[in-house]
Amino acid sequence: MRRGYDELCPRSRGILNQEHGGAVYAFARMRGIAPEAVLDFSASINPLGWPPALREAYRAALARIVHYPEPYAESLTAELARYHGIDPAAILVGNGSTQWIYLLPRVCAARRVLLLAPLFSEYERAFRLSGARVERLCLHPPRFTVSSARLQQALRSGYSTLVLSNPNSPTGSLLPQARGEEIVRLCQRTGTQLIVDETFVDWCESESLKQHACRSRHVVVLRSFTKFFALPGLRVGYVIAHPQVIQRFRRQLEPWAVNSVAQEVARACLRDRRFIQRSRAFMVRERAWLFQQLTRLAGVEPFPSQANFVLARVTANALDAVRLAHLLAEQHLLIRPCDNFPGLDRQFFRAAVRTRRENRRLVAALRKALETRSPVHTAA
Ligand SMILES: Cc1ncc(COP(=O)(O)O)c(C=O)c1O
Repeated sequence: MRRGYDELCPRSRGILNQEHGGAVYAFARMRGIAPEAVLDFSASINPLGWPPALREAYRAALARIVHYPEPYAESLTAELARYHGIDPAAILVGNGSTQWIYLLPRVCAARRVLLLAPLFSEYERAFRLSGARVERLCLHPPRFTVSSARLQQALRSGYSTLVLSNPNSPTGSLLPQARGEEIVRLCQRTGTQLIVDETFVDWCESESLKQHACRSRHVVVLRSFTKFFALPGLRVGYVIAHPQVIQRFRRQLEPWAVNSVAQEVARACLRDRRFIQRSRAFMVRERAWLFQQLTRLAGVEPFPSQANFVLARVTANALDAVRLAHLLAEQHLLIRPCDNFPGLDRQFFRAAVRTRRENRRLVAALRKALETRSPVHTAA
């Protein structure tokens, strides 16, 4: 017999208690369904899937796995340099951007770190593990931005490292390039190492600080193939920094960090310009559609986003996002409650923008949940 969600996860966030979104396998196992039956809005992956051009590259790469991969992904690095119009000596490829997050504390000799929160939780964990002191500067709704004066005041108190994400996850807010440049100058003046997580910037590439990262020893940019190229399972991410900073990263990186299939597939992704353009145009359209639908739902307030997801706040009485996520899970739909992001609370959730048909399902499921809501589920 199929068991109800609350029965399986009494008095807790249950499967939603995972640190990150995208817990499709665990959820499917718990419900006794195939992972394909789950509609996952909790991880923000390109809804068009991966670029068609990579199928051929994947097949060709399989034939070559009897050999070691290029130790530091040299061919992929050259391809990335062409793609971004930057010096290959300013790029280093690794096993997803998470690998770089965990190398950052050592490479940057971080002692006192300021995080612009809410922020991807692995930063705080990585810096704390290294023994650094971590503090947060919280961004507030509805705009989730920080004024130069406030940031300047904070940095003057002597941080070694500042971390921000652009566009930010989970808020979707964008720091336009001109503001980013202001922060770069501020970090140069205060001797602060600026880390910019650009995992989602492929959706608005012109706002990237990659050119600054190549020139300034104070800026490190992290990029990933996970979101835009829909390859979370393959693990490819890279760092863009001044060549001397890249040398410091390289001394910490083991050889063969990226397997040969991942290297070949990533190269093919960069060459598929049609897919890249199509993805961006698709996202602008679908995000606007989903955003508008969410504004029409009584009990939900969405925030503008420049990424491939939307953050929203539950405003309905006697309902919060954790309870809402439980109600949607009954329909095999996963959203990401944001109560474990410092700076947000149980009212916030993030939903990926997917295809029109899937987005319609989300809106219908939300409407149903909001209409038939039951009392807030209190955690133990
Ligand atoms: C803001 C942000 N940065 C980095 C990552 C890690 O991405 P990956 O290690 O797959 O490149 C994630 C994953 O969710 C993320 O949301």
